[in-house]
Amino acid sequence: MTLVDRDFQGAAGDAGTKDLASVQDTAGAERPLIELRQVSKTFGTVKALQDLEVSIRPGELVTVVGPSGCGKSTLFNILAGLEEPDPGNILRLKGVSSAASDLLGKVSFMPQRDLLLPWRNVIDNAILALEIEGMPRAEARKLAMDMLPEFGLAGFEAQYPNQLSGGMRQRVALMRTFLFKRDLMLLDEPFGALDALTRTMMQRWLLDVWQKHKRTVLFITHDVDEAIFLGDRVLVMTARPGRIKLEQVVELPRPRKANIVTSLEFISLKKTLLEAIEEESMKSFQVAGH
Ligand SMILES: Nc1ncnc2c1ncn2[C@@H]1O[C@H](COP(=O)(O)OP(=O)(O)OP(=O)(O)O)[C@@H](O)[C@H]1O
Ligand SMILES: [Mg+2]
Repeated sequence: MTLVDRDFQGAAGDAGTKDLASVQDTAGAERPLIELRQVSKTFGTVKALQDLEVSIRPGELVTVVGPSGCGKSTLFNILAGLEEPDPGNILRLKGVSSAASDLLGKVSFMPQRDLLLPWRNVIDNAILALEIEGMPRAEARKLAMDMLPEFGLAGFEAQYPNQLSGGMRQRVALMRTFLFKRDLMLLDEPFGALDALTRTMMQRWLLDVWQKHKRTVLFITHDVDEAIFLGDRVLVMTARPGRIKLEQVVELPRPRKANIVTSLEFISLKKTLLEAIEEESMKSFQVAGH
C-alpha cells in the first residue's frame, strides 16, 4: 500500500498536529498548510483540472462542491500523492515546494468508496494504515479500541463489514483516517451513502471530533447544506476542466446547531452557492449531451 512514510511519522502524531497551530512564517503571519497554483491534470484526451488554485490554512475545514466529473476526486488524488499533476504546477506543503509524490503518506485520505476489507473485523480494518507503516498490531489495536466509543462503535470491534450498517462502515473508514494522524485530512464524500437522518448525526459528530482534535480537513460533498453547515469556506468548482469558480467564506458562528440551516444567513449563502453550482451543472450536461 501507499500510505507508508516512516520519515514523516516522527513529525506527525499528536505533537505534529499541535505544531500546526504555530505554522508561521518569519514575519509571524500564518502561512498555508497546503497551497496549489496552476494545477492542471490531463488524462489522455480528458482535461480534468485546469489552473486550479487552492490554499488551505492550518485547522480549517474547507468543503468542496461541484458537478459530477469536474475533477474533485482527481484533486484529492493529487493531494494524497497518488496522481502527479501536469508539469508547470506549484504545490507547497507548509511553504516547501513539493511534487505530488512527496505528499504520499503525509496526508490522511478517505477515498470516495470506504474500501473496508471484508475479511478484517472493525478493529483490524481501523488499524490498517498504522499496521502498514509498521506499528505493532497490539499497540495499534489498543489505540483503536480506545477510540471506538467516540466513533459510536463500542462493542462492535469484532464485527465484520457485512455485519454493519452503512453509517457504521463509514465511521470505521473515518476512524481509520483519523488514526492515521496527519496534518491534512481528505474526506471524499464520506457521508454520501447515508440516509438524511444518519447523515445529519454524522455531520454533528464530525464537527465535534474536528473541534476536539484540531485537524485540517478538506471535505468533498454533493450536498450544499452539508458544505455550508460544516465549512469555514466552501469552494465551488467549475464543470470540467475543474478550477475554483467561487470561494465562499461561511461566517456562521461555531458550534453550529442543527437549526442553523433555517437562519437567514444560511439561506442566503445557500442561494448564492446553488446558483453557482447550477450554472456549472448545466454546462456539464450540455457538454455531455454533445
Ligand atoms: N485515472 C483516470 N484515468 C482516466 N480518466 C480519469 C481518471 N481519473 C479521473 N478521470 C476522469 O477525470 C474526470 C474527473 O474525474 P473525478 O473522479 O475527479 O470527478 P469528480 O468530480 O470526483 O466526480 P464525482 O462527483 O462523480 O465523484 C472524469 O472525466 C474522469 O473520467
Ligand atoms: Mg469523485
